[in-house]
Amino acid sequence: MEFACSPKRAPTFVRGSMATLWDDEGNEYIDCGASFGVGNLGHCNPAVVEAITSQAKELIHVGPTFGTDAKAAFTEKLLSVAPRNLGRVFLSNSGSEAVEAAIKFARASTGRTQVVAAMRGFHGRTMGALSATWRREFREPFEPLVPGFEHVPYNDAGALRKTVTKDTAAVILEAVQGEGGVHVASPEYLPAAREICDASGALLILDEVQTGMGRTGRMFAVERWGVLPDILTVAKSLAGGVPIGATLTTEAVERGFKGSHNSTFGGNPLACAAGTAAIDYTVRERLPERAERLGSWAMDEIRGLEAPGVREVRGLGLMIGIELREKAAPVLEALQDDGVIAIGGGSSVVRLLPPLVIPEEQWTRAIESLGRALRHG
Ligand SMILES: Cc1ncc(COP(=O)(O)O)c(C=O)c1O
Repeated sequence: MEFACSPKRAPTFVRGSMATLWDDEGNEYIDCGASFGVGNLGHCNPAVVEAITSQAKELIHVGPTFGTDAKAAFTEKLLSVAPRNLGRVFLSNSGSEAVEAAIKFARASTGRTQVVAAMRGFHGRTMGALSATWRREFREPFEPLVPGFEHVPYNDAGALRKTVTKDTAAVILEAVQGEGGVHVASPEYLPAAREICDASGALLILDEVQTGMGRTGRMFAVERWGVLPDILTVAKSLAGGVPIGATLTTEAVERGFKGSHNSTFGGNPLACAAGTAAIDYTVRERLPERAERLGSWAMDEIRGLEAPGVREVRGLGLMIGIELREKAAPVLEALQDDGVIAIGGGSSVVRLLPPLVIPEEQWTRAIESLGRALRHG
């Protein structure tokens, strides 16, 4: 039996620095996958390394029921950059865990059970998060999943309106569907979702696990739509590469929450110290603006290639999907042979999620390499 965490894809990496990775044979790669969006700040960003090192000398862990300076500082920092209506934070260790908490908070604070998610959406692989995830291959072997979940077509406000009722606890959406192949919400979709939730008393959960922390050209993608979610989930790059998850809620959601929820490692001081350093760095270095500029340039370049195998180029900031007429795997392999790591997003989409700190010279080389791979594909 092979589990997904078994190595499937050579090479074996031994070292990283910002956008560069080295394997055990000394080969060098430009990392344009950033570990599925974890590495917004690159590998071993000195600001993160320094924060982890000094925190490790003070306090590595105490349980989540106690306070620590590291947790207090991080929570305050995260709320200072979050949508202004969100005032409470629950800390955990991964995106799936952040989503699990969001679902539990929504159910226990509305007293309702139905959760409406979108087709092509991805929210994680634990049983609750998986119930909101769309792809059949991910779900089927584990059924029955959690009851009460329904999926509607993405970017279809009419379908959402028909499905959300007085029994709906929450609608959970991504502003840009990442694993589903980089599909961006239309300008009307998220405002419509907000209005539909308000009309029925359901909560709006925005899953920013992949889009958050500057990736799409804003600190949180939802800022572009001018929508305030009731719950927002974030993870991946939040602590510069250290495992973390966070579920942000309004005070009203917390007030209504009847139940108990916790996680032993949630609020771990090492992760919190890394997270504070990561947010400081993101703000100081204006990484969202950088993502916007480098992303727009790259999308123009890729569209300008007019490669016959390319069906569509989509994205926001440094979250770019190139939908092909054929399978993406040969292009990903050609890129890797040329020293560029990219990832898929569904079988026919090449996804680029480079570190937001990628030097321009490396980004240009990666896009040139993509051009060669697409022309010969
Ligand atoms: C939008 C979204 N939500 C949740 C998750 C799950 O995160 P994790 O793999 O950290 O559990 C992912 C992972 O890709 C994601 O993209």
